[in-house]
Amino acid sequence: MAGQISQRFIDDLLARTDIVDVVSERVQLKKSGRNHTGLCPFHQENSPSFTVSHDKQFYHCFGCGAHGNALRFLMEYDNLRFPEAVEQLASRAGMQVEREGGDDPGAKQRQQKREQGVNLLELASGFFRERLALGQGSAARDYLERRGLSAEIIKAFGIGYAEDDWEALKRHLSGQGISEAVQVEYGLLVHREETGRTYDRFRDRVMFPIRDWKGRTIAFGGRVLGDAKPKYLNSPETPVFHKGRELYGLFEARQANRQLSRLLIVEGYMDVVALAQFGIRNACATLGTALTSDHLQRLFRLVDEVVFCFDGDNAGRQAARRSLATSLPSMIDGRQVRFLFLPEGDDPDTLIRREGPEAFENRVTCANPLSEFLFEQAAEGRDLKQVEGRERFVTAVLDALKQLPAGVLKSLLLKELSVRSGIDQSQFSDWLSNHSAPSQPSSSDGEGFEALMPADDAERGVDSFSGLASDIGGEERDNRGSNRATRHGAPASRSGAATLSLSLPARILHLLMHEPGLVSELPESLDWCPKAMPDGRLCRDVVQLLRAGRYRSPQVLLAHFHGSPDGERLDQLARRELAIPRDVRGSELRDWVRHLERESERLTPAEEYRQLLEKSRQPGALSSEEKQRLRELIGTLAAGS
Ligand code: CTP
Ligand code: MN
Repeated sequence: MAGQISQRFIDDLLARTDIVDVVSERVQLKKSGRNHTGLCPFHQENSPSFTVSHDKQFYHCFGCGAHGNALRFLMEYDNLRFPEAVEQLASRAGMQVEREGGDDPGAKQRQQKREQGVNLLELASGFFRERLALGQGSAARDYLERRGLSAEIIKAFGIGYAEDDWEALKRHLSGQGISEAVQVEYGLLVHREETGRTYDRFRDRVMFPIRDWKGRTIAFGGRVLGDAKPKYLNSPETPVFHKGRELYGLFEARQANRQLSRLLIVEGYMDVVALAQFGIRNACATLGTALTSDHLQRLFRLVDEVVFCFDGDNAGRQAARRSLATSLPSMIDGRQVRFLFLPEGDDPDTLIRREGPEAFENRVTCANPLSEFLFEQAAEGRDLKQVEGRERFVTAVLDALKQLPAGVLKSLLLKELSVRSGIDQSQFSDWLSNHSAPSQPSSSDGEGFEALMPADDAERGVDSFSGLASDIGGEERDNRGSNRATRHGAPASRSGAATLSLSLPARILHLLMHEPGLVSELPESLDWCPKAMPDGRLCRDVVQLLRAGRYRSPQVLLAHFHGSPDGERLDQLARRELAIPRDVRGSELRDWVRHLERESERLTPAEEYRQLLEKSRQPGALSSEEKQRLRELIGTLAAGS
């Protein structure tokens, strides 16, 4: 790998750059006092809340919270990775990027490669479109016609066809001088290790190009014409494609609407395209993944209102609860999230064909606001006429509200909660202020999910957590007075300190000590597990050992650590009874990991980098750990290209 961009160089670069120039090359700014203001490029707005400070060399948007220095601005605005933004800023300043360990020819190469990659995907996209129009494409054309798509929509979405041939695309691209290695890297060719042969990934499929916000093709989804499996095949993760960030149809929605105010989030490619066919041009889809906070950030930059469409079945409701939990932290005032549940057995594609666009629009208009859905979830399966039911209802809502940023929405919801529960509002405020200041990093662990589980799930959750808690210190038990619903601050007892005194890594360890096989549920990379959290490092070690495959039973694992403090800790955890029912352990574990991931996402490497850099300006301000971390971050960011 090429050397890392030297920190001295970055300092130098930033010192020689005026953020006001950089931003005003892209956004119209007006001077007002010491600052410059304009319409925020990161979300839609009519009055300017975006300010750029010459003194501080920072931008900040009071509307959507976007903020950062010149590098961050370029990364966000031009969708660049850190090293690319450095390159761009450097070339603007007429500087040559300096890397540790001398000159770096790699940077140019990487930039070229990225451009080449996007180019290559464009070429492929053109090739697929051509094939659809030619003789080979007749079955695909019939298929698209059967699915009711017009030539206009096929064109707008750039839909094409990958013919039934193992090497058609490869021949075409290689003929244009593109190496097979690059074709493999960008997911178009599959390379078989065993035989060393390469062949087209997509064959005999209708091809949907996935485009970035500038309309450049960054990946594909391909659908079989018949019933073969898998129904959809997506490009793998590549240097330009990250599933958890991209949304299918977002570019097309922006193309079709000069002013977007609302986006509809559906599940599939065909849903997006079918809605467009019926004139609903503001839908986009996640790519076979659950909604992430990255997705949400992207959406809220464009619009203030997001409507999620879900199937009416159990899986749909589960997905809706997840999306609710993911949305809560983003709900600053002015933003709206609503939930639309479709009749069972329908997806937007089938529904709009049956009912027509007007009926569908009506459903969208009537979709459940977040507040309604939240109250409904919290009440589900609970008898609000009984004190216990009401207490759980209140706790569930408060747990969710803790995730919500302060603002009008939060106040309104508290008021509404008071009306619905008959409990004085002042008690909630106390409760929230007592419990929202995180006394330990895990103070909000999983509550988003736990609180919003339907009663039966949540009850299991409660039991499992109190099971853990009672082992720890018994605070939980002490607090469980019979009249706790009406006692001041009492709702906190369930999800308060006691239930949370195990950090998430500790809970994961606890689970693994009882059921080591669950290690297979964990993501491949260990990035989700922060070393700095209590039991974080141990958790990583244990996961790695289990992965290595030599330790299958808790006893052997304990033997490995015997005689060390780690061994004692594991012994403790192993003795602790596990009250989580077997059938939900996997999903519980995944939720925890997801929560940790979200937690770590709060500060992206680039943000963390910026903060440390800022701090490093004062001589001696950085501790040696921080210096080390800064070096790591520069490495990470540089490697990201
Ligand atoms: N999906 C996927 N891989 C699969 C199946 C589904 O990536 N093997 C993703 C695709 O993004 C797909 C979405 O999940 O669009 C929804 O899948 P599904 O409901 O099965 O398909 P539909 O969108 O209804 O597709 P169609 O109407 O073409 O059958
Ligand atoms: Mn469908």
